[in-house]
Amino acid sequence: MSRALIAQGPRGSDGDSPGARVDMGVDLAGLALPSPILTASGCAAAGRELDTFVDITTLGAVVTKSIMMRPRAGRATPRMSETPSGMLNSIGLQGPGVESFIENDLSWLVQRGARTIVSIAGESVDEYAKLAAKLKRVEGISAIEVNISCPNVADRGQVFACRPESAAQVIQAVRRGSDSRTPIFAKLSPDVTDIVEIADSVIKAGATGLSLINTLLGMVIDTTTMRPALAGVTGGLSGPAIRPVAVRCVWQVRAAFPKVPIIGMGGIRSGADAMEFILAGADAVSVGTSVFNDPSAPARIHRELADLVAGGGFTRLADIVGRAHREPEPIVLDEPTELDDWDFITEERP
Ligand SMILES: Cc1cc2nc3c(=O)[nH]c(=O)nc-3n(C[C@H](O)[C@H](O)[C@H](O)COP(=O)(O)O)c2cc1C
Repeated sequence: MSRALIAQGPRGSDGDSPGARVDMGVDLAGLALPSPILTASGCAAAGRELDTFVDITTLGAVVTKSIMMRPRAGRATPRMSETPSGMLNSIGLQGPGVESFIENDLSWLVQRGARTIVSIAGESVDEYAKLAAKLKRVEGISAIEVNISCPNVADRGQVFACRPESAAQVIQAVRRGSDSRTPIFAKLSPDVTDIVEIADSVIKAGATGLSLINTLLGMVIDTTTMRPALAGVTGGLSGPAIRPVAVRCVWQVRAAFPKVPIIGMGGIRSGADAMEFILAGADAVSVGTSVFNDPSAPARIHRELADLVAGGGFTRLADIVGRAHREPEPIVLDEPTELDDWDFITEERP
């Protein structure tokens, strides 16, 4: 398929399909996005390869792979394993380091005209603060997504995202170090007892919005080698298998914080999947694992979502955000007819 054809997607549906007339624009923490469909961090690098399948300037935004201060080789291989309806990965935040990212990837995204949400990751609160300070001086960043699903070297490798205090410390450091106009999205882990408690702590620490959810910690054992399938033993589970968990997280957080912008993600591979997240309360969605087997998925999902919104009788996507939270419609019983009365009598007296 030609790039021009695929690129029609995020701008609207095919000219004569019902979705073509739907306003798919999103106001995400003050960012005006033409589409609610974003890439998920780590699943489309910095968008260069994806751009040969989908015109990335028509996406809501490209969310880049989490970047750290220094270059990293990541974990040993094998670091991916298929699972039922999903995959397990232990890439280990492989990347070129922030200097190279700014020089090669971010500059390319800016020159390409894509809206860019830069994802950052660190091993200490100080590393996150340094990354924020570095990015503050750089043009072309729409928002920062803070990946806090990283082990804290100063705290026995405990993951920042799993405790309200450490999650808040990271967000506070990033907020202080960043330009006050740059929205900051805290990306939360589902591997916690109460995601609302973590959301509360990062909002109080200065997060503008939330990205829900990162992968779930999982493990696969190879029954032939009788060893863990991943060299890193455990990995992050993603794909359709985690979608109900992700939708539940979005639902709970939206119910607790109705005004806080949410980017939802986890196993989205169709417009209907994306719509579930929007109805649960996400303002926008990220598409991750699906891109590996269908690189044009973000454009297709946009078109399918637009058609579904139109099919529901709506002209603006914004009107269905969080709509699943409304009270169920009361059941109106028809006036009984003479026939109903008769049925009732015969049932009572067979
Ligand atoms: C191969 C791979 C690499 C990922 N790398 C990152 C990353 O660098 N930073 C991050 O915040 N999330 C990362 N994620 C998590 C995704 O951004 C997303 O939150 C998760 O996979 C759920 O969405 P999905 O089911 O659509 O993939 C990665 C996921 C995968 C599958």
